[in-house]
Amino acid sequence: MNVPIKTSDEIEKMREAGRQAASVFEMLAPHVQAGVSTGKLDRLCHDYIVHELGSTPAPLNYHGFPKSICTSLNHVVCHGIPDEGKKLKNGDIMNVDITVKTADGYHGDSSMMFVIGESIQGERLSRVTQECLYKSIALVKPGVRLSELARAIQRHAEANGYSVVRDFCGHGIGAGFHEDPQFLHYDGYAPEADIALAEGMCFTIEPMINVGGYRTKVLRDGWTAVTKDKSLSAQWEHTLLVTADGVEVLTARGDEDLSFLRS
Ligand code: MF3
Ligand code: CO
Ligand code: CO
Repeated sequence: MNVPIKTSDEIEKMREAGRQAASVFEMLAPHVQAGVSTGKLDRLCHDYIVHELGSTPAPLNYHGFPKSICTSLNHVVCHGIPDEGKKLKNGDIMNVDITVKTADGYHGDSSMMFVIGESIQGERLSRVTQECLYKSIALVKPGVRLSELARAIQRHAEANGYSVVRDFCGHGIGAGFHEDPQFLHYDGYAPEADIALAEGMCFTIEPMINVGGYRTKVLRDGWTAVTKDKSLSAQWEHTLLVTADGVEVLTARGDEDLSFLRS
């Protein structure tokens, strides 16, 4: 496995890519409301990324993906395709996954949940999934193994009665959208895949957590991954830099409380 270590010049470019990805959510959030279509959200993000940021939405045409962002509603685990005919309604939960590729050629990849109106079960699932992300981020520093991060995620999800998706993983990120290593969010590592983190690595943590079983299937569109048992699914994602003594959350949003990292 070849896990790239970023130079200080590359780290600056990753910081910019991360800031840009975070800014897309800040633009988008006020538009996420009942009645809006996921196709409209896609167009808003596309136009903002291209015309305001001068960057590229990395998903567009990536292995043939047809849109600029992923919108994954309710029992959709990931890679949902935005659609002009798909309108948000009260009680829906939605993950929006945004990846920006800057003019410099570096990627920032992040996703977050939105609860439309009221959903008690959806709020709880979303909160626990974000806690899984945060508990694993808090462990990131040189020398820590991927399986230690994965166990923190799995323990918290299962303690809350949920399951961890096994079919999709986090990944190294940089000039490539998906680089080594693969980051499994559950404890299923082959010894040689369970690498130790080192300063200068950039990777994503992006747990997908289900109310029911962990199994998924991909719909006939070739992209949309859903839970096999049609149970609700949630995901949160950040792009991270391993620093000398810990972690930098490259895709942190301005309103996000990351104070847990300093305690
Ligand atoms: N952003 C997703 C990830 O976290 C990948 C989306 S690939 C796409 O890795 F083609 F579906 F957009
Ligand atoms: Co990712
Ligand atoms: Co993503």
